[in-house]
Amino acid sequence: MTSTEFSRQVIAHLPPRHPWADRITVLDTVDSTNTCLKSMAQQGAPEGTVVIAHRQTGGRGRLGRQFSSPAGLGLYFSLLLRPQCPPQQLMHLTCAAAVAASDAVCQVCGLTPDIKWINDLVVGKRKLGGILTELSIHPDSRQVDYGMIGIGINCHQSAADFPEDIRPIATSLHLEGQSVDRAALAAALMERCQDLYAPARKDPLMESYRSRCVTLGQPVCLHRGTEMIYAQALDVDMDGALVVEYPDGSRQTVTSGEVSVRGMYGYL
Ligand code: BTN
Repeated sequence: MTSTEFSRQVIAHLPPRHPWADRITVLDTVDSTNTCLKSMAQQGAPEGTVVIAHRQTGGRGRLGRQFSSPAGLGLYFSLLLRPQCPPQQLMHLTCAAAVAASDAVCQVCGLTPDIKWINDLVVGKRKLGGILTELSIHPDSRQVDYGMIGIGINCHQSAADFPEDIRPIATSLHLEGQSVDRAALAAALMERCQDLYAPARKDPLMESYRSRCVTLGQPVCLHRGTEMIYAQALDVDMDGALVVEYPDGSRQTVTSGEVSVRGMYGYL
C-alpha cells in the first residue's frame, strides 16, 4: 500500500473533521519516526503532527536500546505535543502514553495489554510494544518547547520475524490471535493521545496505569549502571516513579532515568 493510501485510511478511521487529520505524514522507510518528528518540531510543526513509517532502520527504545521495526509488520508512530507548562508537570507522560496505547489496542481488537514499568506494553509474559517519550526544554523559559510520544506496536509478526535475542520475550497481536488494521490502530492512538496531558486526566490515567502495571507486587531486580539490587515493587507514584522496598524493610522511590527493572525470574 502506498503512503498516501495509508494516510487516507488513517483519516477515514478518525472522527470527521479531526483537528489533526491534515498533520499526518506517512513514510515508507525512515531511521526513526521520533528523530524525523524532532526535526519537524524544530522547524515549527504544530501540536498533533504525526509521523508513521512502514519500516524503521534505526528504531529506538529507552536506554539506547533498538526497537525491531521490520517493514509492514508493526506500527511505528510518533506524535508531537506542545504543552505550555514546566517539565515537572509532565513527569507522568510516559505512563499516560502507555495507558493511551493500551486503550487504543483494546479499541481496535478487544485485547487490553498490561504494562511493565515504565514503558513496555505486555501480553502474557511477553513484550508487545513500547513507548519512547522525549521532551525538549526551552533554554530561557525552562518551559517545555515540545514533547513527543513514540509508540511501537508489534502487529503482524510471526516468531521468526523477531531478532533471535528477543524472540523468547516478544509477541505480536498476530501471535496473540488478533488480526489488526494498522491504520485503524494509528487513528485510535491519535484519539487516545489527544488530551493526554490535560491536568484533569492525571488521576484517572495514573489509576489505570497502576491497575495494568504487572510490575507491582513483584520481586524485581533494579539495574543501575553495572549494579544490580533486589527489591519488591510496591507502587507507582503520581510522577510515574516506582516505589520499592528492600529486603531490610527500607523503601525508596526510583525514577526510570535512574534504573531499569527486570523481573527476578525473567523479563517480567
Ligand atoms: C522501548 O521499547 O524502550 C520503546 C520503544 C519505542 C519504539 C517507538 S517506534 C516509533 C518511535 N520511533 C522510535 O525510534 N522509537 C519509537
